[in-house]
Amino acid sequence: MQDLILSIESSCDDSSIALTAIDTYELIFHQKISQETEHSAFGGVVPELASRLHAESLPLILEKTKPYFKSLKAVAVTNEPGLNVTLLEGVMVAKTLSYALNLPLIAVNHLKGHLYSLFLQKEAVFPLGVLLVSGGHTMLLEAESFEKINIKAQSLDDSFGESFDKVAKMLSLGYPGGPIVESFAKKGTARFELPIPLRSKRQLAFSFSGLKNAVRLEIEKVENSLNKSFQADLCASFQKCAIAHLMQKCKIFFEENARNTKGWKYFGVVGGASANLALRENILEMCNFYDVKLLLAPLEFCSDNAAMIGRVAVESYKREEFSVIDSLQTRPRIDTF
Ligand code: KG4
Ligand code: ZN
Repeated sequence: MQDLILSIESSCDDSSIALTAIDTYELIFHQKISQETEHSAFGGVVPELASRLHAESLPLILEKTKPYFKSLKAVAVTNEPGLNVTLLEGVMVAKTLSYALNLPLIAVNHLKGHLYSLFLQKEAVFPLGVLLVSGGHTMLLEAESFEKINIKAQSLDDSFGESFDKVAKMLSLGYPGGPIVESFAKKGTARFELPIPLRSKRQLAFSFSGLKNAVRLEIEKVENSLNKSFQADLCASFQKCAIAHLMQKCKIFFEENARNTKGWKYFGVVGGASANLALRENILEMCNFYDVKLLLAPLEFCSDNAAMIGRVAVESYKREEFSVIDSLQTRPRIDTF
């Protein structure tokens, strides 16, 4: 049996565990238990409920990995960024395993995990431009290597994915909003004129709160916001603007890169919202225009999962980057990688 790393992810509302082969990156086992149904009644993630559900789900998945315990060489866990009470659940399980099985402990940054979802079961390529669009973050990154990942832009307020969740909530469409708003948008016409955020600025930054507010004002204007055709048209208008905003900032990023002779030739889109097909189409067009190769994660690994955490952990393991059980802490927010 190959040498394996067991990885744990619990940064938000997905409990997930994976087993990754150290030499080949092969994904030997992966399971995730999502909490979407439980949170949908509240229109968003309730941290305490999420934490309790992780405490139930993680041991259930862990049980299935027991036959592989003899092959484990390390235990990895997401410790930043995320919801503190849910990160703690995964970290506690990881620390217990590390102690009980006498294995080194590896702390993994969740955003680095999303980046490495591009390299599941394969070698990584660098340098790389990245658009990270999740429920917690919207970022443009320049990744030079495993160690050197620079944040070039981030959101001044809400994230791209979160703005979909909020629009779905305002229209009583359920949670998570991303896939629901996308499917409504497909059926609608973008007839509402909504503002494209930071349109006149060359500043590399994102903002979604103004757009979200504009959606709210349109909802307040109508008598019946539950009308399906109104909802579809508003979702189409919102999605068009939100993507146009991402694309305007990506264009600046691509232009700057094209002027750099040592610039990246690969561009990755990662995070839960990278599953959005309209966004994928737009990015592909831009990549083709600038002669850059587009990298995407398989759809099932766009949202949170432990496979991507295990993939990062293999790199850390090879560099012997281990954490001490007593001093490993959770960090809800990060400013650097
Ligand atoms: O990466 P992820 O699973 O969790 C975080 O790390 O935050 O991303 C979840 C986010 C949610 O906000 C969800 O609504 C959004 O990704 N999302 C989408 C789509 N699928 C998921 N947003 C837009 N379009 C989608 N198809
Ligand atoms: Zn995530």
